[in-house]
Amino acid sequence: MSLPKDFLWGGALAAHQFEGGVLDTTKGLSVADVMTGGNVSTPRVITDGVKEGLYYPNHIGIDFYHHYKEDIKLFAEMGFKCFRTSIAWTRIFPLGDEEQPDEEGLQFYDDVFDELLKYGIEPVITLSHFEMPYHLAKEYGGFMNRKTIDFFVKFAEVCFKRYKDKVKYWMTFNEINNQMNYKNDIFGWTNSGAHFGNYDNPEEAMYQCGHYELVASAKAVKIGHEINPNFLIGNMIAMVPIYPFSCRPADMVLSTEMMHQRWFFCDVQCRGHYPRYALKMFENKGFNLDITEEDKKALAAGTVDYIGFSYYMTNTVDSTAHKDVSKSLDGSSEHSVANPFIKVSDWGWAIDPEGLRYALNQMYERYEKPLFIVENGFGAIDKKEEDGSCHDPYRVDYLRAHIEQMKKAVEIDGVDLMGYTPWGCIDCVSFTTGEMKKRYGFIYVDRNNDGSGTLERSKKDSFDWYKKVVASNGEDL
Ligand code: BG6
Repeated sequence: MSLPKDFLWGGALAAHQFEGGVLDTTKGLSVADVMTGGNVSTPRVITDGVKEGLYYPNHIGIDFYHHYKEDIKLFAEMGFKCFRTSIAWTRIFPLGDEEQPDEEGLQFYDDVFDELLKYGIEPVITLSHFEMPYHLAKEYGGFMNRKTIDFFVKFAEVCFKRYKDKVKYWMTFNEINNQMNYKNDIFGWTNSGAHFGNYDNPEEAMYQCGHYELVASAKAVKIGHEINPNFLIGNMIAMVPIYPFSCRPADMVLSTEMMHQRWFFCDVQCRGHYPRYALKMFENKGFNLDITEEDKKALAAGTVDYIGFSYYMTNTVDSTAHKDVSKSLDGSSEHSVANPFIKVSDWGWAIDPEGLRYALNQMYERYEKPLFIVENGFGAIDKKEEDGSCHDPYRVDYLRAHIEQMKKAVEIDGVDLMGYTPWGCIDCVSFTTGEMKKRYGFIYVDRNNDGSGTLERSKKDSFDWYKKVVASNGEDL
């Protein structure tokens, strides 16, 4: 028993968290470029444009823009078969509503993809990974505005046409379901360029926004397939399975209800229509959403080829508990409680490798579409020693345990799995907190929370371990 021979081992990143090249190129500002640095207890602030005197970690990231050859060489040394990143929408359309794309931005990705292909590394590309043009968010309200569907579809079409012979694997929106926590502003902002809290009914606003985004995703899938029928175009969701805290029937029912929220976007993207639990909920809550017959046809015509997902943790719900989620960054809900059987990371994320096998089974049974683990990893505080080494056995332990469970899902449960790309394969800026200190990489980058550091790259112990894992197709863990 083993993983398929063409299994896509690799690593994952997102343009806004590592590229830099924000203020010294033709790139426009994205929603991520107006987010300050924070930490586990101090939330990032979304500012009205870039403010003098504030620190925006994404402006430099780890400066991949000027280091891409060096970084890709290191990925190749680890034996990557694929590399997942995103195209910064604002490199192609700096404001988002221009007639013509920006050639400098397009050329940058040509150069990156050529460099990857030189080493036989397949690019796996997310079209929108929290990088909507700031201008679209500010002037149009992001995806609260129907017009944004067309802006996104045009961007997607430009990318599909330009890179049709270089990129085969695509995803539309990263973790489109994060915004289900409409109470924490960071998610609506980064998913959709929207502040749901500004609307009379933030929950209804989230579903309206989500609908336009789902239509945009479906239209892009259809156009992509017309441009190149060999494209494989997936969605991308944050998969955080929700366990009942106890065998109390009310907990079981609650976890099912909470999972509806987690499945919602994926159900529409995989099945091409709204699930009945959602339609019933809209009716029961009196939501009056702008969903046209044309939209329904677009959803039906643009179902995804595979499901890309991130898996970091599970969540546990207790029907008797109640908590405030307006600051929550760990996928928790009003009823979340600690799971006494699992430990958490320094950032409070539950470490649950078996949950990955459970998640793979849940998704495969529900949709019977190929799955792709496009994010998984351990954010931790690493120490670089005087001699340049960095010992990160906790990262190896985390990844090994997850790969073991992933293999069981394939080899025992028969799940159709395309690949595995651990998150932040080279250290980058944390999305939720804006820190450098929360590191995921196999490659250490000398950069600190305050922006100091030489940006020098060095290998951690996990670098050689992962190289061995890839070379043995997951046999030598
Ligand atoms: C996912 C995102 O939510 O988790 C990534 O797709 C993000 O962009 C990753 O970086 C890990 O989160 P964080 O906050 O630890 O960087």
